[in-house]
Amino acid sequence: MAKRTARNTGVLLLMVVCISGTQAAAQHQDAITPGQVWNDVTGNPINAHGGCVLFYQGLYYWYGEHKIEGLSETTHADGGVHCYASQDLVNWHDMGMMIRLDRPENEDLTHECNSDRPKVVYNATTRDFVLFFKLYLRGMKSQAGFVAVATSASPTGPFVYRHKFLGGNSPEGTGDFAMFKDDDGSLYHLAVRKPDKAFVIGKMRDDYLLPEGEYTVCEGVTPKTEAPALIKRGDEYLMLASGSSGWKPNAARAFSAKSLQGPWTGYGNPVSGANPNNGLGADLTFGGQSNFILGVEDREDAYIAMFDVNKPEHPFESGYIWLPIFFKGSEMHISWQDSWDLRIFNK
Ligand code: DGJ
Repeated sequence: MAKRTARNTGVLLLMVVCISGTQAAAQHQDAITPGQVWNDVTGNPINAHGGCVLFYQGLYYWYGEHKIEGLSETTHADGGVHCYASQDLVNWHDMGMMIRLDRPENEDLTHECNSDRPKVVYNATTRDFVLFFKLYLRGMKSQAGFVAVATSASPTGPFVYRHKFLGGNSPEGTGDFAMFKDDDGSLYHLAVRKPDKAFVIGKMRDDYLLPEGEYTVCEGVTPKTEAPALIKRGDEYLMLASGSSGWKPNAARAFSAKSLQGPWTGYGNPVSGANPNNGLGADLTFGGQSNFILGVEDREDAYIAMFDVNKPEHPFESGYIWLPIFFKGSEMHISWQDSWDLRIFNK
């Protein structure tokens, strides 16, 4: 009963957004079409890059970096974190900006800083939605990689910026990261450490706001592993990731382990096929780089791999590739689909 009430709350919220939104232009889509422009329900391109999806009370929330049209990565296209909501993972409603990088009064969140790869996790104890993103301060390029932390009592904000931290027990912090919540509610920060590019793990405090203590190197994860995305399936942890080549695509890589600290076993590139939109195949991950793996609610063993096709000169035009994951033993397999929907998991 409690679950039904909670679900109704989320769905009600979406109905309010529909009614107050520009319904005249509403578009309904029936399928996910990887590599093609993905519009929200009002017909605007979805602007949520390097993102993640959180399910809460009957709705999916997609958080990603808002890229400012007309700017490049070097002219600071990052505008903050944008959120969309959906019931079906195909049709998305714009819920607005969760945090903006346009605050001259806050040195951490000015227009000239660079931010990336937002991830939101719900803390069931504090009842906070905790938002993390990669943050390079104004004028510092990528010398020190901070993790910025913001919290909100609601999935759609307002998010309050709390602080930033340097992870990895390194004065230069970390780069790409995943925030993985284990079955017992413990949250772990898994990231590539600067400057040595070892892949490390540190447990977060129970309130999720800061690392609790020391980080350790994840044995078996190849150094220079970026773009990590993790799930737990049965008693195994599975990780999808990329190599390190800036904004340029490279071959995806995958690992499995019985413990988050390792040892991890690598099993190479889990993707196959080719992206007809750009002619790129598995050796370049269809032109994409992983961001997150989302679990489909109420479906057993149904997971979706989220990739971005980065366009550093025109980040506003960066694309999305979402593909279903299939499993052979403890290995993930992700093959190209031109168009698909959730019925693919019925097979
Ligand atoms: C690689 C990361 O995976 C991207 O998200 C981005 O931060 C680029 N590096 C920047 O060079």
